[in-house]
Amino acid sequence: MKINKICCIGAGYVGGPTMSVIAQKCPNIKVTVVDLNKERIDAWNSENYELPVFEPGLENVVKDARGRNLFFSTAVESSIQEADAIFISVNTPTKNYGIGKGQAADLKYIELCARQIAAVSTTNKIVIEKSTLPVRTASTLRNIFDNLGPGVHFDILSNPEFLAEGTAIEDLHAPDRVLIGGDYTTESGREAIAALVEVYNNWVPKEKILTTNVWSSELSKLAANAFLAQRISSINAFSEICEHTGADINEISKAIGTDSRLGSKFLKASVGFGGSCFQKDILNLVYIAKSLGLDSVADYWEQVIILNDHQKDRFALNIVKTLYNTVSGKKIAFLGWAFKKDTNDTRESPAIYVADTLINEQAKIAVYDPKVPSKQVYVDLNYLQSRSIEENKSAVITESNPYSVCNQAHAIAIMTEWDEFKDYDWQKIYEIMLKPAFVFDGRRIIDKEKLTEIGFKVYSIGC
Ligand code: UDX
Ligand code: ADP
Repeated sequence: MKINKICCIGAGYVGGPTMSVIAQKCPNIKVTVVDLNKERIDAWNSENYELPVFEPGLENVVKDARGRNLFFSTAVESSIQEADAIFISVNTPTKNYGIGKGQAADLKYIELCARQIAAVSTTNKIVIEKSTLPVRTASTLRNIFDNLGPGVHFDILSNPEFLAEGTAIEDLHAPDRVLIGGDYTTESGREAIAALVEVYNNWVPKEKILTTNVWSSELSKLAANAFLAQRISSINAFSEICEHTGADINEISKAIGTDSRLGSKFLKASVGFGGSCFQKDILNLVYIAKSLGLDSVADYWEQVIILNDHQKDRFALNIVKTLYNTVSGKKIAFLGWAFKKDTNDTRESPAIYVADTLINEQAKIAVYDPKVPSKQVYVDLNYLQSRSIEENKSAVITESNPYSVCNQAHAIAIMTEWDEFKDYDWQKIYEIMLKPAFVFDGRRIIDKEKLTEIGFKVYSIGC
C-alpha cells in the first residue's frame, strides 16, 4: 500500500497548513485540500497570497508547493474519488444544542464527511482522523462505512495534529512526535499504518513517529491538550495568590520551571487561555468522563475551565474596580484581539469575554489588532448573543492604528502578547490618553517600571 494521492477535507487552521507542509516535503504526492467554503478556497488560491490563515512561514510553504503538487479546490467528490488517503480535518465545535449541549463535541460535520466518502468512493481508501475527536469516533466511522460502504475497503487511522497556532510551520517541520493510531490486528490495518508512516518519514525521523492503537491515539490528543491547559490554569491560580501576597508570578514560573521534572514551558500567567482546542477538548473530556460514570475525573478536569473563566472575569472586574467602580461611557482601548500572538484566529479569545463584561458595564471598547479584521470582532461579539448586533456596533469601534485606539482612552487592556506592543512610543501614548492613564497588562509583556516612570498606573497580571 502506497499513498500517491491525498485528499484533505477541511481547509482551515489545521488542514491548510498541515497539507501545505506535507505537499512541500513530499513532492511526489498529489495533495488536494477541499472545502465547501468557496471564499476560503479562493483565498488559498489567491495570486497575491492573501491566505485565509495567517501563520509565520506559511506563505513560503504555499509558494513552494501550490500548483506543483498542492491544490485547493471545492471539488470535494472528485478529490475523494481519486485519493488513496483522505484526511478529515473539519471543525468539531462544542455542541450548542440537545444532549451534551455545552460539553460534547458536535460530530455532525464528521458524520457528513464519512457519508460523503462512503457515497462516492470506488476504490479502497485510508481514512485519517486529523480533527480532535472524542475517543471511539473511529468506531462511528467504521459503522457508517460498513453500513453505507459501496463494497470498497476502508482503513481508519487516527493522526491527531499537535501544531500550535502561531508556530504551526515550525511545529510541522520539526514535530516533537507524529502520532499514528491504527488497527494492528489486521494486515490491512498494519499496511495502512506503514503507508502513513512512510509519508511522514519523508522529513520526520522514524523514532519520532509513534504508532499506537486507534483509541490511544484519539485519547492522547485530548490528554495532551488537557495537561497543557491545566498547567496554564495552575499558574494562573498562583497569579491570583501573587497579587495578594507581593510575590511575582514570573519569578515563580522561573523558579519552578528550572526543575527538570516540571520544565519551563507553558508557565506563563495570562488573562486566560483561548483558542479552538483547549476549552473544547476539556469540555469533551468532562463529557466523556461523565458518560462513563467517572464523576470525580470529570470534576477534576472541569476545574481547569472554571479557573480559566475566573481569570478572565477577575481581569475585567479589576478594570471596573480600578476605574473607580464605573466604566460607564469610558473608552477602554484593547491592544490585541487574537487568542495569542502571530495568528489571526480569535476563537475563544479572552478578549471577547473581557469585552463582553465591560460592555455590560456600559464601557466603550476600541480595538486594535495587527492581524484580526474589523468584521471578525463583531462576529465574535454577536456570537455570544449577549445583546443585539446594533448594540455591539455602538459599543465597539475598531481602528487600524494603535495610537488612534489609545487616543482619549481612560485605560488600555493588553489582551494579546503581540511583540510590536513592546516597541510602541509609550510616552506618546501617555500624552494622548485621559489621566490618570491606566494600563492593564493581561499578558505581562510591558515593562511595568518604565511605564510607571512615564506616569501610567500599571496593573500586571500576577504581581
Ligand atoms: C494548542 C496545543 O498547544 C496544540 O498542541 C494543539 O494541537 C492545539 O491546541 P493552540 O491553541 O494553537 O495549540 O496554542 P497554544 O500555544 O497552546 O496556546 C493556547 C492558549 O494558551 C493561548 O491563548 C495562549 O496565549 C495561552 N497560553 C499558552 C498561556 O496563557 N500561557 C502559556 O504559558 C502558554
Ligand atoms: P480547524 O481549526 O480544526 O482547522 P476550521 O474551522 O478552521 O477548523 O476549519 C474547518 C473547515 O472544514 C472549514 O473551512 C469548513 O468549511 C470545512 N468543512 C466542514 N465540513 C465540511 C465538509 N463536509 N466538506 C468540506 N469541508 C468542510
